[in-house]
Amino acid sequence: MKECEVQFNHVFEQWADQYDKTVFEKKDEYAEVFQGYEQILRTVVEELNLPAGSRVLEIGVGTGNLTAHLLEKEWDVYGVDPSPDMRRIAARKLPHFTVADGHFLSIPEEIGKVDGIVSTYAFHHLTDAQKARAIQELADRLTEKGMIVFADTAYADEEARDAIHERVRSQGALTLLNDLQTEYYPLLSTVKEAFEDVGLRFSARQLNRYVWLMIGKK
Ligand SMILES: C[S@@+](CC[C@H](N)C(=O)[O-])C[C@H]1O[C@@H](n2cnc3c(N)ncnc32)[C@H](O)[C@@H]1O
Repeated sequence: MKECEVQFNHVFEQWADQYDKTVFEKKDEYAEVFQGYEQILRTVVEELNLPAGSRVLEIGVGTGNLTAHLLEKEWDVYGVDPSPDMRRIAARKLPHFTVADGHFLSIPEEIGKVDGIVSTYAFHHLTDAQKARAIQELADRLTEKGMIVFADTAYADEEARDAIHERVRSQGALTLLNDLQTEYYPLLSTVKEAFEDVGLRFSARQLNRYVWLMIGKK
């Protein structure tokens, strides 16, 4: 049976209206996950380093916080998100920008080839098998010198994953622990393999305790 490709819309149905409060005020269990959030978004944009006129696709736009930075550049920006609730908020914040209904494994054909593909805090919604398939499909969408820049929670290795889970458990942050254990936060080696299997050069660096910048270049 085909695995469900969009499993988490129900989460954002409840979270959409409070999402910006979580990421900007950082007062709940997710404070460390969103530590340096604005800087993380800026780093993704800096890493893209594309000339004016480039075509950039953002996946998992959410409430549009990364999009706002992308739109400051002279790029043609496209965005997709599967959650109607998140798209509603993005539409309110960015009235001149349209977020299409789509996801990692379903990018509207009319967007065509792009020079850059970006995503923050979203790639972990895919199982590891789906991640590999998504990277393959996204690599096919890149122009000759295109690149992918993601920032999301990932683990350096299994030991690091177990230590983080143990720390979160000892802090009593049970909502976050449940999230870390039930969504599909990857080992870096899994992401590296997915990129390298389709001929992309992979590099990564840590941006906060949870979030890694993950880059794939042709
Ligand atoms: C934690 S929010 C991140 C939003 C925004 N990118 C940010 O950095 O603040 C995750 C977003 O990913 C979207 N999402 C969930 N599953 C997805 C999928 N399979 N493909 C693309 N986006 C997905 C959700 O609807 C949500 O808007």
